[in-house]
Amino acid sequence: MGDFDVDWLRLRGPADERARAADLPVLLRAHLAKGPPLKVLDLGCGTGSNLRALAPALGGAQAWLCLDVDAELLDRLADETQAWAQASGFAWDATARRVTGAEPRLDCTLTTRRFDLAPDSAELPIDGIGLVTASALLDLVSETWLTRLVSQCAKARAPILMALTYDGRVAFEPALSGDREVIEAVNRHQRRDKGFGPALGPGANARLAILAAAQGYWVEVRTSDWRIRRSERELQSALIRGWSRAACEEAAASDQAAIAHWEAVRLAAVERGCSRINVGHRDLLAIPSRA
Ligand SMILES: C[S@@+](CC[C@H](N)C(=O)[O-])C[C@H]1O[C@@H](n2cnc3c(N)ncnc32)[C@H](O)[C@@H]1O
Repeated sequence: MGDFDVDWLRLRGPADERARAADLPVLLRAHLAKGPPLKVLDLGCGTGSNLRALAPALGGAQAWLCLDVDAELLDRLADETQAWAQASGFAWDATARRVTGAEPRLDCTLTTRRFDLAPDSAELPIDGIGLVTASALLDLVSETWLTRLVSQCAKARAPILMALTYDGRVAFEPALSGDREVIEAVNRHQRRDKGFGPALGPGANARLAILAAAQGYWVEVRTSDWRIRRSERELQSALIRGWSRAACEEAAASDQAAIAHWEAVRLAAVERGCSRINVGHRDLLAIPSRA
């Protein structure tokens, strides 16, 4: 499984959905201008889960421009959104790529564009945008990239809503020896270059809060932790395997056997149905000050 393939995004979907801070879109809605459709820019949209979570919460007329570097994920976005719309009682117009509904009132069009966000030269299509958003993206980006993003958003006076940024906290139940060492190694790995320069990793949300406040934004942060249930064995196993791999890449050769042992014991606990994992995330809303 690649880091961001369709199966992985589907597997994490239910935990993402439960974790999101429900009050931030409500706070945002109160600050949005009534009238023309809200133009939303979704960065690193994947298969569109951010749109599906936010569009009904914001309600009204919206036009989403969804950017991702991965064409395969973008190709899935319309189908995933259609399946969601039908399951949620919305109407889906495949030609116009439009979701409509009466309760909550929603009239939302979506456009996808293959776009590499990483290069310094990447000019974000931010003109006329009324909301810049992303989910599960920020921990990949660098300080330089984030600073540039915030200054572009500030210039456009665009609110920012960033959901589900990993913050480095992981709690296991039952606890095992080795948990702390593995997660510390994972968090070091998180700071490696993920294409945007040295990644902010678990520090990304805190940096965004500081950068946005410095640009005059009013900032609200919530915890949005994954609370992964005993029954969610596939998600737990995928995480444990991924963490073990990352920790091995960070660890000395002499520590590899201990990490492999940790992985085996953790996976056995998952299989027995007695493992729960809490993974720390943050949601952040930044509203520009009124002129
Ligand atoms: C963890 S996934 C999150 C996807 C989606 N926002 C969600 O919440 O399900 C991170 C996304 O960032 C995208 N991404 C990573 N690097 C990127 C880049 N340089 N330019 C554009 N998108 C990128 C990946 O393709 C992937 O879809």
